[in-house]
Amino acid sequence: MKRKVPVAVLGATGTVGQKFVRLLADHPWFEVVAVGASTTSVGRTYGEVVRWRESAPVPREIAAMPIRECVPPLPGTIVFSALDAEVAGPIEQALARSGAVVITNARTHRLDPDVPLLIPEVNADHLELIDCQAESRGWPGAILANPNCSTAALALALAPLHHAYGIERLFVSTMQAVSGAGYPGVPSLDIVGNVIPFIGGEEEKIDRESRKILGTLTNGAVEAAHFTVSAHTNRVAVVDGHLAAVSVGLSKRVDPEEAADLLRDFVGSPLVSGLPSSPHPPIEVEGRVDRPQPRLDVNRGGGMAVTVGRLRSCPVLDLRLVVLGHNTVRGAAGQGIQIAELLVAQGRVGQSSPERIS
Ligand SMILES: NC(=O)c1ccc[n+]([C@@H]2O[C@H](COP(=O)([O-])OP(=O)(O)OC[C@H]3O[C@@H](n4cnc5c(N)ncnc54)[C@H](OP(=O)(O)O)[C@@H]3O)[C@@H](O)[C@H]2O)c1
Repeated sequence: MKRKVPVAVLGATGTVGQKFVRLLADHPWFEVVAVGASTTSVGRTYGEVVRWRESAPVPREIAAMPIRECVPPLPGTIVFSALDAEVAGPIEQALARSGAVVITNARTHRLDPDVPLLIPEVNADHLELIDCQAESRGWPGAILANPNCSTAALALALAPLHHAYGIERLFVSTMQAVSGAGYPGVPSLDIVGNVIPFIGGEEEKIDRESRKILGTLTNGAVEAAHFTVSAHTNRVAVVDGHLAAVSVGLSKRVDPEEAADLLRDFVGSPLVSGLPSSPHPPIEVEGRVDRPQPRLDVNRGGGMAVTVGRLRSCPVLDLRLVVLGHNTVRGAAGQGIQIAELLVAQGRVGQSSPERIS
């Protein structure tokens, strides 16, 4: 690519926003041209305002950028939104109306019938929904959504099983990192040495979002997958990485070794596996009995690979497994960037078509 695609990051000062800034710093296709946050930050430079929590230094050119108000028009063909979900919806709609291609991490639009909820390796075909979106909403831009952070890893790990054997029932109990709650997130006195057996709205998100992602696109609409979901979500004293203990009921009995081979061999489409942010392989199968563990395995594939371990038969359903994914990389910024790469690779966004994607 001769000229990089200009992009903006909104909510750039937050946990997910900082991950976007770090991952985009030397991206081969994208260049950050604007950063936005709340009005308390507007006007000062990014370097002055941000409470930087990444291990690499703040990229120098972004540190010097002024924080902008999150209103159109903003420079940048693609807008990565890492906005607080309480404020994201109207801001993202206004930007799409003004022509921006918004890739959101907020929950607001994920279940809208005309908004693709994407994991590129799993359901890149759902991108077609943006054509329906352009028609129904009449705006020149678009909104595309990233799933919630625990669903992103879970649905990726389940996709090969669902496509091969058909999931009928899913039981999942999560152990989710504190960075999933943003910054400063959960007070230390609540979480150190503790487990909190409730994360607001998370169980419903796992149910609805995983069934939309694994659903089928027919005649411009996604029919959600039909399996039933029993989800328990827990916050644990881990910094990064959501772990999920899963039991899955399938349409037929499956040998765990056969399931392991299926997951290990999963690649997604060639277009997706060729994207700069796509990990090789997307699912790493771990044979050691005490893995995956967040501290040891969360950064596999640069945080974009999902690690699956403890694959064994289940006396209640059919298979048991443990899934680990990086919540701010696969579950947010890394996959948001991968979605943008997919748009470029499909020719929907780029130098030749900067204004429209449908
Ligand atoms: N953390 C995760 O693992 C994760 C994973 C997937 C999805 N998400 C979703 O991603 C989004 C960001 O999450 P986070 O964890 O990064 O949260 P966070 O650390 O609390 O950051 C929130 C960001 O939103 C900005 N903001 C707040 N109010 C605003 C307003 N009125 N106008 C403009 N900007 C405003 C903040 O700017 P100031 O600094 O100026 O206040 C900050 O940059 C949320 O929707 C969340 O649900 C998070």
